[in-house]
Amino acid sequence: CRVLVLISGNGSNLQAIIDGCDDNLQAEVIGVISNKPDAYGLIRAHQSEIDTSCVIAHKGETRVEYDARLKVAIDRYQPDLIVLAGFMRILSDEFVQGFEGKMINIHPSLLPKYTGLHTHQRAIDAKDEEHGASVHFVTPELDSGPVILQAKVPVYEEDTADTLALRVHEQEHAIYPLVVKWFSQNRLAMTNGKAVLDGVE
Ligand code: GRF
Repeated sequence: CRVLVLISGNGSNLQAIIDGCDDNLQAEVIGVISNKPDAYGLIRAHQSEIDTSCVIAHKGETRVEYDARLKVAIDRYQPDLIVLAGFMRILSDEFVQGFEGKMINIHPSLLPKYTGLHTHQRAIDAKDEEHGASVHFVTPELDSGPVILQAKVPVYEEDTADTLALRVHEQEHAIYPLVVKWFSQNRLAMTNGKAVLDGVE
């Protein structure tokens, strides 16, 4: 399974997936694309001898124009799976539809709770007892595609957004490589808008 990872920043999830693929002979990270030239994840990719590309937004460019250039960059890698790992751009409907069932994202909340940004602070403000992360198939509506796997963490009274984010991140690094593994083993698909694992919704 040819895995292409899209990032914008630190790339700790990218690292977890690279490390996971070392033990998973069915999947290989064949490329990393960033929209930010200074993303630390690009250094991680170089350290693992993985090819990288940057697709930087031009001034005044529309979303559809950017996504068309992104699609060209993606198609160059002929990926079987596109993994969004902290890729901080909203993608146009048309772009997303072109990769239906082949693109996954990780979001730092227990979806459907807290789509969008500042999820850790929102969980604290709401006095939630638990919080977590979700891996889901990407569909046109932001952070709303079918959930594949979630991990929960407790929220403590003394938590700040940063301490809570750290706890969630640890879980992200466990569940994201696992989902990539399932996909690479052909155990996972999106069927009729639902995530199906081993034939079970
Ligand atoms: C993670 O918190 C992920 O849930 C969100 O973006 C962050 C990326 O972190 N989508 P990293 O770049 O993988 O360290």
